[in-house]
Amino acid sequence: MHSILKTCHVLVLVLCLSAAEDFDWTKNDRGSFYYGTFPAGFSWGAGSSAYQTEGAWDQDGKGLSIWDVFSHRKGKILQNDTGDSSCQGYYKIKEDISLMKELKLDHYRFSISWPRIMPTGIKSDHVNEKGIKYYDELIDNLLENKITPIATLYHWDLPQVLQEKYGGWQNISMVNYFNEFANLCFERFGNRVKYWITLNNPWSVAVEGYETGEHAPGLKLRGTGAYRAAHHMIKAHAKVWHTYDTKWRGQQKGLVGISLSGDWGEPVDISNQKDIEAAERYVQFYIGWFATPIFHGDYPQVMKDFIGRKSAQQGLGTSRLPTFSSQEKSYVKGTCDFLGIGHFTTRYITQKNYQSGHGSSSYFTDRDLAELVDPRWPDPGSEWLYSVPWGFRRLLNFVKAQYRNPMIYVTENGVSEKITCTELCDDWRIQYYKDYTNEMLKAIKDGVNVRGYTAWSLLDKFEWDEGYSERFGLYYVDFRNKNKPRYPKASVQYYKRIISSNGFPNQREVENWKRKATETCSSSNQLLAADPLTSHMEMVTEVVVPTVCTLCILLSAVFLMFLLRRHN
Ligand code: NOJ
Repeated sequence: MHSILKTCHVLVLVLCLSAAEDFDWTKNDRGSFYYGTFPAGFSWGAGSSAYQTEGAWDQDGKGLSIWDVFSHRKGKILQNDTGDSSCQGYYKIKEDISLMKELKLDHYRFSISWPRIMPTGIKSDHVNEKGIKYYDELIDNLLENKITPIATLYHWDLPQVLQEKYGGWQNISMVNYFNEFANLCFERFGNRVKYWITLNNPWSVAVEGYETGEHAPGLKLRGTGAYRAAHHMIKAHAKVWHTYDTKWRGQQKGLVGISLSGDWGEPVDISNQKDIEAAERYVQFYIGWFATPIFHGDYPQVMKDFIGRKSAQQGLGTSRLPTFSSQEKSYVKGTCDFLGIGHFTTRYITQKNYQSGHGSSSYFTDRDLAELVDPRWPDPGSEWLYSVPWGFRRLLNFVKAQYRNPMIYVTENGVSEKITCTELCDDWRIQYYKDYTNEMLKAIKDGVNVRGYTAWSLLDKFEWDEGYSERFGLYYVDFRNKNKPRYPKASVQYYKRIISSNGFPNQREVENWKRKATETCSSSNQLLAADPLTSHMEMVTEVVVPTVCTLCILLSAVFLMFLLRRHN
């Protein structure tokens, strides 16, 4: 017996050593690059969303969404851009799928526009078959090309009628309306779509839509609006999951998850307990706000404590954070077959107290913290987006630890560039993808259950309140040309190689990829510069039209003067 145990011991030791040889956590901490591959069957993809890419905002019976209305209001979007035509994706299914084929994608993540298939948002009013036909075609074409569709049911484009009639996500009735819409999608597309995401980034909907008002519907209900919207979205998500579970799962055998976005928060001073707690709070108020109810049945304790205390200090009888009844807790708990993670950046966090006076409460002051960045972090595009790859691994490990290692699909990760010049040789994006996917690989080696990765985004597109000024695409879209042609950036070549090698085989090869990718982009740059249609379009809009108009005005003035003189 003793010798058997001894042998087992040795065997375990040998196994541990060989695993450690393969991946040593300490050797693979921040800064170092890990050469290795992803598990077999790992799914590589790219993503988009309806309002950001489809265009055709008023075509074929589509109803208005809150984003149509919001973007048409002057002063809400940078340069008053709108998603009216965007990438014209509605008309380019085949063309865009050929781009996905070029990348050799395993999956494509897109969203279904609720008002395109239910113009008022209410099923009994009208179902728009033309809208359904568009998504049918998209899904069929993806499957014919062996690309798995991952469909998001809500990527922010709430039907305007539901906003006007009920106040949108401020109202509990959204739970049933959203459920009806989701049920219709399961009924019509569920024979082919096996991965469903209920809500995309509800944090942003709640905070930017109902707290700061930077996003549609543009409400500034500070201190309460975000919490109420989030509460209803969590319930709506849970209801849709139950609908799938009871009505559709048996025959369709798909999975339903939610996509949560969150930055990582790192304590400024890792030896300071207050900073450690503040950083944890930052993440709990971000991803935890939604993930904790969904995995554990209630809000994070720290949110209940902080918002509850501050509400009491304001003299309120109840907390501004709504509560779940015990029935609701068990209804919401466990409603996630996989967790979608959207992640872009990291912040340093330190403790900072905010006094809660009357009327001054907000989601931001409730957290009692301050966000900092390291000025050495690269920030090639969006103001908020610093490249901090190691934060990604930490966030993934946090999710593993907090929610009992759920199945994860990374639903968004990527970087933008500023609009100033047309640049297809995006070496900073290559660096970002290389380092972030490498940190994800390390996280998988840590034991995090990541099954797929979605580069954000396939195309440059409408970037919400930033209009077209921030480009996230692997493909450049020429928005000046009304045909919206696409051109590959260098990162297409690079991402394609990560996909075909399923990771990073060895240093020599990986370094070669970068060289090859940057070689090809200069020819794409030339192609774009030489596009006759673009130059023609520019000529027409910037030179011909104004010149003809001025000439017409001048001629009419001369003619008028001539007539007046003759008359006198
Ligand atoms: C998250 C949103 O879901 C997506 O639509 C947006 O493009 C990215 N953030 C980048 O800002």
